[in-house]
Amino acid sequence: MKSKSSIHPAKEIAKNSPSPVLRQLLVLFFAVAYSAFLFPGNALTAELNPPENNYPEISKDMPTEECMQCHPSIATLLRTKGAMHAHVECRQCHLQVHAYITGKTNYADILPKCDRCHAHPHGEELTQCSSCHQEAHAPLEIPANRALSQGCYVCHPELDKDIKIFPTKHTYLYCTSCHHTRHGRKPVCQECHQPHAGRIGASGLITDSTNPLDQCISCHPPHKALKVTYPDDTENTVCAFCHHKADEMLRRKYTKHTALLCIACHPGQHKTIKRCKECHGTPHPEDMLKKFSSCGACHGVAHSVVR
Ligand code: HEC
Ligand code: HEC
Ligand code: HEC
Ligand code: HEC
Ligand code: HEC
Ligand code: HEC
Ligand code: HEC
Ligand code: HEC
Ligand code: HEC
Ligand code: HEC
Ligand code: HEC
Ligand code: HEC
Repeated sequence: MKSKSSIHPAKEIAKNSPSPVLRQLLVLFFAVAYSAFLFPGNALTAELNPPENNYPEISKDMPTEECMQCHPSIATLLRTKGAMHAHVECRQCHLQVHAYITGKTNYADILPKCDRCHAHPHGEELTQCSSCHQEAHAPLEIPANRALSQGCYVCHPELDKDIKIFPTKHTYLYCTSCHHTRHGRKPVCQECHQPHAGRIGASGLITDSTNPLDQCISCHPPHKALKVTYPDDTENTVCAFCHHKADEMLRRKYTKHTALLCIACHPGQHKTIKRCKECHGTPHPEDMLKKFSSCGACHGVAHSVVR
């Protein structure tokens, strides 16, 4: 996704046809317009279609500020949400202005076309610009609609892959089940979940953060929710929250293992168990070890190791 190179000089006028979605919109518009012609009393259509020849006079070189005086809502939209379009003059986009006349002009012909200034910045799969960029005066306000939904994988291939190769029940949700309303929105887990029956928060385990999202995702990456990983400095109390028996056992009888963090023997990925030999090498002659099924045969369990 690169933008700069895809921008033509604004003045370059291309022969172009409107996108299919735009075309559909326009067919609809035209149908409404036609019905207005048949039923002039309809309030909705009267609003959409100013009476013929009733546009205010405007000069050919009217500056943007003057357009804005009569179109204050568009001016506000551009100023607050226009992004880079806030720096484009009205007339750079609107080549024909006040030209739409019911039954005489085709709205499609006077409408600004994206591809006069932009090529296809997202490649050839996502070319129906207005299906996602629904409001040209606020081009980055993108609703989480069907069209966007069908494009997630094009722009976020890694996450699309993650959620599939680490199957959890999240795999069967739509991206927009969580990322609803508008593009870029991040959900909090509690929209759908009770937090571990209320215990995580109340336990005081996760102390510094008041953001519940941080708490959950510090353990559960949302796109691979059961791939719980722990940093090397995770305190034993975090584990003890769910594994109080293991914790008790480790502390009941003091051994040199008692002084270790859980994470020393269970590093990184949750449920990892380090082999004794990874830390102790070969502490006894091989011949001797061969006769026993495991270290545990003499040393018992790691949480209460026998000397
Ligand atoms: C499937 C939905 C979708 C379609 C279709 C789509 N876009 Fe986008 N576009 C997006 C999203 C999402 C972003 C990222 C917005 C952000 O950065 O917050 C974006 C960003 C952009 C950007 C700014 C960043 C960049 O990549 O250059 C431009 C320019 C742009 N789109 C133009 C277009 C044009 C022109 C078309 C039609 C040829 C189009 N888009 C079609 C969803 C879409
Ligand atoms: C980046 C191109 C672009 C710029 C800049 C732009 N427009 Fe538009 N405008 C459009 C497009 C495309 C449409 C039709 C589709 C839509 O509404 O998104 C439109 C529609 C309109 C409409 C009719 C529909 C509506 O939304 O009310 C008015 C009025 C309008 N523009 C006025 C303005 C004024 C005034 C300015 C400058 C202050 C301006 N536009 C700047 C692209 C632009
Ligand atoms: C004196 C007030 C006034 C000025 C100045 C003005 N407009 Fe309009 N414009 C209107 C009215 C009234 C309508 C019809 C109702 C509506 O759509 O808002 C209209 C409609 C439009 C439309 C939709 C219909 C069509 O045929 O395109 C666009 C786009 C538009 N204006 C753009 C502009 C631009 C760009 C400028 C500056 C070059 C401008 N206007 C200056 C009052 C004005
Ligand atoms: C008159 C030229 C012109 C037209 C027509 C035009 N744009 Fe743009 N657009 C620009 C310019 C200039 C920029 C800023 C370029 C840049 O980011 O380098 C821009 C930026 C954008 C951005 C990114 C905004 C940001 O702040 O990053 C999006 C999205 C976008 N345009 C979508 C569209 C869509 C969708 C249409 C059709 C409805 C359209 N544009 C029509 C000139 C235009
Ligand atoms: C056309 C490309 C495009 C499409 C389609 C697209 N995105 Fe994005 N998305 C982007 C870009 C570019 C960013 C980075 C924007 C930024 O950093 O502000 C982004 C950012 C995000 C973010 C993070 C926002 C943040 O604040 O960190 C989320 C969440 C997101 N997208 C979800 C989705 C989902 C879900 C879909 C499909 C429903 C989707 N996107 C479709 C291009 C796209
Ligand atoms: C839009 C709703 C929604 C949101 C938001 C959401 N989840 Fe889920 N999650 C679900 C559903 C539905 C299930 C399946 C529940 C079931 O079948 O019992 C699920 C299941 C899970 C599972 C168990 C997975 C499995 O395969 O057994 C975990 C762990 C999980 N969610 C964690 C989270 C975390 C952490 C967050 C925040 C990052 C989160 N969820 C946000 C809807 C959601
Ligand atoms: C169960 C809810 C859920 C589902 C389903 C989901 N996401 Fe997310 N997503 C999140 C949460 C929560 C975050 C915020 C993570 C954070 O802040 O670190 C996020 C973050 C993102 C981001 C921002 C970048 C990042 O890595 O944090 C993108 C992009 C994104 N998701 C895209 C997608 C796409 C594409 C899909 C579908 C393939 C999808 N998500 C499905 C919950 C979900
Ligand atoms: C300290 C780490 C940690 C935190 C923080 C955490 N979880 Fe968990 N969660 C786990 C572990 C570990 C499991 C068990 C995973 C397994 O069985 O493989 C789990 C299981 C789950 C499950 C599936 C099993 C069940 O109980 O239904 C859901 C849903 C879940 N967590 C949601 C959440 C939510 C929501 C939050 C935030 C409020 C959260 N978790 C915070 C570690 C954590
Ligand atoms: C939110 C609860 C939760 C937290 C926090 C948690 N676990 Fe677990 N853990 C579980 C669940 C649930 C299982 C699965 C139990 C089962 O399958 O019988 C499990 C299983 C395990 C296993 C056994 C793997 C096996 O193959 O038998 C180990 C080892 C483990 N956890 C270590 C840890 C360590 C170390 C921590 C702290 C860094 C930790 N856990 C934090 C819930 C948790
Ligand atoms: C010296 C290394 C070591 C330390 C420290 C350690 N463990 Fe273990 N843990 C093991 C080994 C090895 C096993 C496999 C069973 C065995 O051989 O004893 C295991 C098994 C487990 C299991 C699954 C079986 C069971 O007993 O429930 C859990 C849960 C567990 N450990 C949690 C913890 C927690 C929580 C801590 C910290 C309070 C911890 N471990 C500290 C080495 C260790
Ligand atoms: C993460 C590394 C690690 C793992 C894995 C580990 N240990 Fe240890 N173990 C230690 C350390 C460190 C000591 C203390 C050594 C010292 O002070 O010289 C120790 C001490 C011991 C001791 C002496 C206990 C005492 O109190 O004097 C025995 C016996 C022992 N380990 C056996 C085992 C067995 C059996 C396993 C596998 C079930 C195992 N260890 C796994 C790190 C580990
Ligand atoms: C046949 C029983 C037996 C088996 C099997 C066995 N050990 Fe030992 N281990 C002992 C005895 C006895 C000692 C000496 C205790 C002492 O010096 O007080 C010992 C000492 C140790 C010590 C040194 C404790 C210290 O104080 O420094 C470590 C570490 C250790 N063993 C680890 C292991 C590991 C790892 C395995 C598996 C690869 C293993 N042992 C298998 C019997 C066994």
